[in-house]
Amino acid sequence: MASEAEGWILTATGRAPTNIAVIKYWGKRDEALILPVNDSISVTLDPDHLSATTTVAVSPTFDRDRMWLNGQEISVSGDRFQNCLREIRKLARDVEDVDKGVLIRKEDWQKLHVHIASYNNFPTAAGLASSAAGFACLVFTLAKLMNVDQDHGKLSSIARQGSGSACRSLYGGFVKWAMGDDASGSDSIAVPLAPESHWNDLVIIIAVVSAKQKETSSTSGMRDSVETSPLLQYRAQTVVPHRVQKMEEAIRSRDFASFAMIISLVERWNKAEGIPQVAYTFDAGPNAVLISQNRNTAGLLLRQLLFCFPPPPDSELSSYVIGDKSILGEAGVQSMNDIKALPPPFLNKDGSPCQKIAGEISYFICTKLGSGPKLLDQSQSLISPSSGLPK
Ligand code: ADE
Repeated sequence: MASEAEGWILTATGRAPTNIAVIKYWGKRDEALILPVNDSISVTLDPDHLSATTTVAVSPTFDRDRMWLNGQEISVSGDRFQNCLREIRKLARDVEDVDKGVLIRKEDWQKLHVHIASYNNFPTAAGLASSAAGFACLVFTLAKLMNVDQDHGKLSSIARQGSGSACRSLYGGFVKWAMGDDASGSDSIAVPLAPESHWNDLVIIIAVVSAKQKETSSTSGMRDSVETSPLLQYRAQTVVPHRVQKMEEAIRSRDFASFAMIISLVERWNKAEGIPQVAYTFDAGPNAVLISQNRNTAGLLLRQLLFCFPPPPDSELSSYVIGDKSILGEAGVQSMNDIKALPPPFLNKDGSPCQKIAGEISYFICTKLGSGPKLLDQSQSLISPSSGLPK
């Protein structure tokens, strides 16, 4: 390591999206390497609405690896962080910053410590795959800082060791996590199926039921399923391979009816219309993710949602519907009074109007398909270039 200035700090800042699976990852065949029992397919969500931003800094003055998440210091001693840091350090190369008079040789990275500051622009631990965005962002940004020359497939296999579904957040659009069969996990990587531009009229509305931490972690839920469910193996070996193939075809041909049919249906509306209007999916949390074919359908959907799940009377509409607020325009709703005046969307079988359920939904996020990780410029750094601590 050669440097003119002793107290130098180098940083890199990146942003990575979260993703929502439409063919789910459920069950590990190797807990340490996070290897799944089936392929999965996801859509990457718009990073403007759902993403992690992470700055990684390196300096000879840092005495240990440290991390701050949403402003709070957290431990990086767990296996998941350690595995990602170790694997990325192995791939690090020489880095030179001529302006700062700094040259880091690839072998120096084993001794240098990093500071990591990250924040999520959506609730962490609300079942919205924050760790997927977080680990994808961490690995992507460390790779930039350390001048790693590897494709996103390789980076995805490292991010996978932080959080399984993080591997899918290395790409935008539609992404497959190929389960692979090698015991080392080298072929358990994300593969892009189609970029976000391929089917960019899809609108995604997330009904955030609870922004609280979920009670059962995905890790323990999956472990219980693997240990106790005879159906899980059947799902992985018989059901999923066929569905993955059908889903890939539906994405390729932008066949919304097949796409929605595979996920399942928003029963009544879709039945009433004859052809599917909206698809829905859930991850291991209570939040519903609703996918509509275009903005017009999304507007109609949002009208129905706002009728059935009205905001609390003293709240602001602008904090009840967040993300792409222009969908409110499609819904013909601009104020709390407009919501009060909405007609009931559909009748129950007995002719009674659909019931209003107040207070169950915290808020709705309107979003769309998004792009993969991006490097941000220095002005967006979360770490002070003089102290090396979060700003
Ligand atoms: N877990 C949840 N959010 C995270 C983030 N931004 N970085 C790392 N781990 C996370």
